[in-house]
Amino acid sequence: MRYFLSPPHMGEKELEYIHEAFKSNYIAPIGEFLTRFEEKVKEFTKAPYALAVTNATAGLHLALRVLGIEKGDKVAVSSFTFIASLSPILYQSATPILIDSDESWQMDPQALEDAFKKEKGIKAVILTHLYGQSANLKEIEALCKKYGAFLIEDAAESLGATFENKHTGTFGVFGVYSFNGNKLLTTGGGGVLVSLDEKLIKKARFLSTQAKEEGVPHYEHKTYGYNYRLSNVLAAIGTAQMEVVKKRIAKKREIFNLYQQKLNHVATFMPEIENSKGNRWLTTALFDVDPLKIYNYLKSLEIETRPLWKPMHLQPLCKEMKFYGKGISEELFKKGLCLPSGTQLKEEDIEFITGAIKECL
Ligand SMILES: Cc1ncc(COP(=O)(O)O)c(C=O)c1O
Repeated sequence: MRYFLSPPHMGEKELEYIHEAFKSNYIAPIGEFLTRFEEKVKEFTKAPYALAVTNATAGLHLALRVLGIEKGDKVAVSSFTFIASLSPILYQSATPILIDSDESWQMDPQALEDAFKKEKGIKAVILTHLYGQSANLKEIEALCKKYGAFLIEDAAESLGATFENKHTGTFGVFGVYSFNGNKLLTTGGGGVLVSLDEKLIKKARFLSTQAKEEGVPHYEHKTYGYNYRLSNVLAAIGTAQMEVVKKRIAKKREIFNLYQQKLNHVATFMPEIENSKGNRWLTTALFDVDPLKIYNYLKSLEIETRPLWKPMHLQPLCKEMKFYGKGISEELFKKGLCLPSGTQLKEEDIEFITGAIKECL
């Protein structure tokens, strides 16, 4: 038996819907499932407008383009995250300003405020909701308002996570969810961009399909766009996955609780910010020993784990970029590990994995 970090979990409906898409012969680029998938995401998250795209990275890129972020503009971004939170800033030739985490592991509002004060003119903030838990939306949202910056939520990992009972991804000007193969739900590869503003999603939709002007039979272009629209077949998978979203979150949280119970004395788990509820996409924890020892020992037993994200400010790519914070994410990176969190795990699997960790320690 091999344990993966977060493998896809297909249910009963996915193939049925794929067959439906095939029968209709709407494979791509349009089709009924694109609308159904978007409707499901809207209904679940309460985001009024949604656009299904090829992946969350494309969604973030569209968000920046729609908001007019361009060469030389400053964009603050979580440092403790996956590279895809940052790379769309580079696609726009804009300037990332890296913001550290605080004890919550999420973006540190104090470091963000320092950046706002020193940098002047930060136009947007890309806020990652890390490992499926909500960031400190109350303070970050207030800071974005105070300093007049657009808030873009990178909710790639946090579909279904809430802050004060409101879904992450629905606080900012834009939010984006990922349906990559390792996420809570998957379409193989995919993303959904959401917004409270119809005009913004309309513009993103236009740009995601090569920016073709309407009202003429030929292709007329006043600007350039992208080929970022999700296919109808993948949207069919997403539609079926959305039908089990609540079940999957309950299972992820159950897995987290089991790990916490069984490793209570040897590990410190990622906290949840007050008034928030995460989806616990990946169970992540800090250990007192070098996590690579655990990583290697578990690897020998075919159990996949992964170090926490290496902060962006430590990446060779980012060495010239400005960074604000106390280096808390560096400490987290040194001590932390993501544990297998697939929703098909049973209690005996967690028992086996935690037993192996204890053995290693
Ligand atoms: C925080 C974060 N942002 C963005 C992405 C990019 O998502 P996608 O693979 O759908 O482009 C991911 C994961 O892949 C992620 O973990």
